[in-house]
Order: sequence, then structure tokens, then C-alpha cells
Amino acid sequence: MERIRHTQAWATLETLSTSVKRQHMRDWFANDKNRAAKYTTSACGITLDYSKNRINEDVLTALFELAEQRQVSEKITAMFSGEIINTTEHRAVLHTALRNFSGEPVMVDGEDVMPSVFATLDKMKAFTESVQSGAHKGCAGKAIKKVVCIGIGGSFLGPKIVTEALKSHHNKALDVRFVANVDACHIHDVLSECDYKETLFVMSSKSFSTQETLQNTLTAKAWFLQQGATEADIAKHFVAVSSNVKAATEFGMAAENVFPMADWVGGRYSLWSAIGLPICLAIGFDNFRQVLQGAYEMDVHTQTTPFASNLPVILAVLGVWYRNFMGAQSHVLLPYYHYLRGFPAYVQQLDMESNGKSTTLNGLTVDHGTGPIIWGSEGTNGQHSFHQLIHQSNLPIPADFMLPIKVPNQDNTHHAMLASNCFGQTQAMMQGKTFEECYQDLADQDLSDKERSTLASHKTMPGNKPSNTLLFDQLDPKTMGALVALYEHKVLIQGAIWDLNSFDQWGVELGKVLGNDVLDVIKGAKDNNHLDASTAALIAQFNRG
Ligand code: F6P
Repeated sequence: MERIRHTQAWATLETLSTSVKRQHMRDWFANDKNRAAKYTTSACGITLDYSKNRINEDVLTALFELAEQRQVSEKITAMFSGEIINTTEHRAVLHTALRNFSGEPVMVDGEDVMPSVFATLDKMKAFTESVQSGAHKGCAGKAIKKVVCIGIGGSFLGPKIVTEALKSHHNKALDVRFVANVDACHIHDVLSECDYKETLFVMSSKSFSTQETLQNTLTAKAWFLQQGATEADIAKHFVAVSSNVKAATEFGMAAENVFPMADWVGGRYSLWSAIGLPICLAIGFDNFRQVLQGAYEMDVHTQTTPFASNLPVILAVLGVWYRNFMGAQSHVLLPYYHYLRGFPAYVQQLDMESNGKSTTLNGLTVDHGTGPIIWGSEGTNGQHSFHQLIHQSNLPIPADFMLPIKVPNQDNTHHAMLASNCFGQTQAMMQGKTFEECYQDLADQDLSDKERSTLASHKTMPGNKPSNTLLFDQLDPKTMGALVALYEHKVLIQGAIWDLNSFDQWGVELGKVLGNDVLDVIKGAKDNNHLDASTAALIAQFNRG
């Protein structure tokens, strides 16, 4: 693929950015009453208002041209049809097959994978129903009341945030908890609240080789046996999800308790697979099925909708505009919904592990910006901390605001305040407040002209800060599925534009290898001669206690 900087669309966008940087969104809104309507589009229960962006028709047209020149449609088709687009690991990328309700086959290596997808869903359904109904008994003949889910990265974040987001759909008889970090504080805190006779452990690891997950499971197993259970009881209380079924059974998991997943499901794209078992246990299989349905509808939308009203394409090209032409290095996610508070952390892995790269598919070093830093937290909390920087620093930080219109157990007083803060922030970011307005506001104060001017300068809000607003009719299981799929496809499209492999993660490997080496030195199994002086000294101090 030709270098992105050599494309015609790149040159056009560079020229356009020079002129857009001189313009203010405030003026665009004042001069075009139709701007909000023109730049608002909806699909799958999600309305996207992208009018508060530093774009005009020329910019959008050039961005869509760039997407075309970078063969985004072809990349989408290649992914959905099972082509080996994860070239460095020689794998297809088919999380979309896990929610494929089209009735059409999906072929991998000449075999339709849909029968195995549905077989795993059937197994998840049967297990979920037996646990939820109490038919699945623990070692003392008691029903399960607590589920401890052990996994990290994609085997943790997706299940956790979907479970959290759908709290109003939880089965009240089951308390589902997540443990990720190898820091013992976490697993011990969770175990201290468990009764071993009523606890089910779900160990989730695609590779079945992740240090944190293996160790936390060993700790949970040891605790389970210390409490009075026997080895024979383990099968009733421990299940695993993995693509490495052999390793799982060798580890001691009963073969019938292993829920399989395919190697063409990437870790950070895996909540739709058996990795979603914790979600099923929390909200029931029928609701989980709705999560899949919402994602499927977003898949259809992505594949069939023209770029101009295609939600993932719009989000993706806007991100490229800010990253490559307007100087942005980060992108903030601001869910105004407490139950969606984990979403920024989820998208952080999804986006940064996928597009946090600087090598093109052909192995060349990129000469353009790639995936931004993703960060954020729930509104309104951020307004009282980091929004200051968004409003008044000179760092350009595009934002995605998110708000459900209807919420469960609606308290109108609170929800109206939440919504008003959300909309008010997008407005403040867009319009800002001029020096003249601030100066005028200070007319009644007993200030010298110098003091008045200085204070007005401090109070001036430049505005022109871009944001998208995503409104959900309600964040039900289906919309949640669509929302996650929306961001998955945004990442795919940006990866296509930047010519990256969005589906490997070589950057995390060296740290794992060196971490194991350091562990050997800490334990005294290796000397420290091969280490740099800093690392050796840190280990020595740690070992001195
Ligand atoms: O270390 C990164 C990573 O490989 C992620 O890509 C993955 O989601 C996570 O670790 C957990 O991996 P696994 O499911 O194999 O335990």
C-alpha cells in the first residue's frame, strides 16, 4: 500500500487544516442553523451528534476520500469474510462470527465455523441456566451465590464493563466479581467475602499462559482446599474459558468444564465468545444474546451503510483528522452514566493495544501519527478535575461524550442534572468565552483596568474544542453490544487508514519475558550479572525488604 502521506487526500487535508485552524466553530454554528441536523446521524439505538467538530463539508469529503484511498471498505470485507488480516500471527480476525445471526456460513480454512460458535453458545446457555436456577450444586449441595471471574486484559475488561453497564439486568441471586491483577490484595479481598461452598470460579485465559491469571487461580484453588473442600470438589467450583483446552485440563480443569474459544478471536475482541460467560451468569443468557444481537446489527450497519452516515467510519475519520492534521495526541471518553464508568478503560485496551504501533503492514516505520492515548472517566466527576485542562490548556483533546436518555430506576432530578452537565460541557468546549465577554462580566467589580484585563485573560475560554455526543435511547443489552462493536470497528477502520495490523500485540511480549527473568533473580534462581545496574539495584533493595 502506498504511503499515506503520498495520497491525494492527505495533501488536500493538510491544506484544509491550515484554513480550518483559523476558523471558530462558534461562527459556524451562528452562520448555519442547520449544522446540528446536518452532522447528526443514528443507528442501532445510538445517535451521534458530531456537529461540534472542527470540520466542514470539504474536510468530511476529503476524509471519506482518504478512507476510500486506504481501502477501508475492502478491509471491512476482508475481516468479515475470514481473510488472514492478522498477518504477523497468520490468523483470521473473526469476532464478528461470534455474533453472526445472518444464517450465512463463515469459512476458516475451508470449514464453516458457525456450528462450533452455536455449540459453544448452547453450552454457555445450559451452564448459565443451571447455575442461575440453583440446579448446579456446589460441594455441600448448596446453590452458587458468588462468581469470581479471574482473567486479565481482554479476558477481563470486556466482561467486566458489560456486566457493570447492565446492572439493572443482573440476576439478584448471583454476585459476580472480577479479579485481574496479580497483586494479592485483590484476590484476597474478594476471597475474604466468599463462602467456598457457594462460590464458582471462572478462569478466563485465551492462551492459558498468562502469569496473573494462572497465579490468581492457583491462589483461589489453594484457598478453596484450605477452607475444607477436597480435590474432587474442584470440578463443581472451577470452570475455565480458553482456546488452549489441553493446557486447561493439564492444569486440573475438568474437560467438561472448559469452554472453548477459537484462535481467530483476539483477546481484546473476545467478550462475544465464551469469555463472555461472566456476563451470561450476571444477566442471563437471553440478555447476553441481546448483547450479541446489538453487535450484529452494528456489524450490518458498518458493512452496508455509506461512509457519510456510517457511525464507525465517521468516528474513525474524525479521529484521524485530529491525530494527523490538528495535532491531537489523545482522545478522551466521557460516559455520563455511572454504570458505563469502565468504558474508557475498556476502549483504552481495545484502541491502544490495537493501534498503538509504528510499523506498517509491510514492515516499514510509519511517518505519520497512529493510535492516540485513550483516557477518561465518568461525568460529572471529571468536570471537577481534568476538564480544566481540556477547556483552557493548549492541548487539543477531542472528546466523546456519552449519555443514555432513559436510565433504570430513573430519578428525574438527578438525570436532568447529569444531562445538563453533559450538554453544558460540550457547549462550553465548543463556544468558549471570549476575552471581551469576560472583561464585560467584571464591569461591576472594583478593579483597576489592568487588574480587570488580567483577570479577564485568566477567565477567557478559547472554545473550539471538538466533541462528539453519543446519545443512547437507553443502555439496554442490545445497545451495549452495538456500542462496543461501534468502537471495535472504529479501531479497525483507523488501523486500515494507518496501514497497521490492529490485531497483534508484540509490544507487550518483551515485558513479560523480562518480568519472568527478574522473578528468577528475585527468587535467587538466577544471578543478576546480566542485568543493568538500575534493575539490579532495585531488585537488591526489594530483596533486602
Ligand atoms: O498481555 C496482553 C494480552 O495478551 C492481551 O492481549 C490479552 O487480552 C491478555 O493479555 C490476556 O491474555 P489471555 O486471555 O491469554 O490470558
